[in-house]
Amino acid sequence: MTLSRQDLRKIIRQKRNSLSSDVQYLAGLDLVTQFKQLAEITSAQHIALYITADGEIDTKPLIEWLWQQGKEVYLPVIHPFSHGHLLFLRYASNTPMVLNQYAIAEPKLDQTQIIPVAQLDLICTPLVAFDANGHRLGMGGGYYDRTLEPWFDSKQGPKAIGLAHDCQQVDSLPIESWDVPLPKIVTPSQIWDWE
Ligand SMILES: Nc1ncnc2c1ncn2[C@@H]1O[C@H](COP(=O)(O)OP(=O)(O)O)[C@@H](O)[C@H]1O
Ligand SMILES: [Mg+2]
Repeated sequence: MTLSRQDLRKIIRQKRNSLSSDVQYLAGLDLVTQFKQLAEITSAQHIALYITADGEIDTKPLIEWLWQQGKEVYLPVIHPFSHGHLLFLRYASNTPMVLNQYAIAEPKLDQTQIIPVAQLDLICTPLVAFDANGHRLGMGGGYYDRTLEPWFDSKQGPKAIGLAHDCQQVDSLPIESWDVPLPKIVTPSQIWDWE
């Protein structure tokens, strides 16, 4: 039986939300260990992350490690008038935060802190499920498909890296024409590379 995208989202979201706080905590630390091995990290200076919600892998240790390395960290903000699009704003420990329409924390809109997507080196994307080919299923908003579409298959611009718990992997996903696959996905146990 093939599960629909909506069914898969429901099942995997339940799975990741049921991870214990100990497992969540260790997963966040393991993510940092994996990033230390990531080839792209040395030359990357401008890195987009996201604030964890809904049982997603804890990005806080990674963000703090990147700050310690002198990297600039950015977070997505839902675009105020370009429907379905994201802006990326610089994130520092004193950045004023607000909750967006999905109750996810995002930097308070401040034009002086916006970075053009073209200037990002890495975009770390959240995801609900991924498969053995790097296909990505998100929460259903299509935000990262729209963000990454201009850069897919391009030597220039940001490189996408998916972040996930190991339990978010499935054998195969029902894919739509607009879904942008990920060249790399990092989980606590390994770096998946499809380049
Ligand atoms: N590049 C794009 N341009 C326009 N619409 C898009 C684009 N990418 C995705 N969408 C739209 O966004 C919606 C959600 O996409 P979907 O792939 O289901 O979400 P997610 O990637 O978050 O799982 C779909 O209705 C799709 O048509
Ligand atoms: Mg998609």
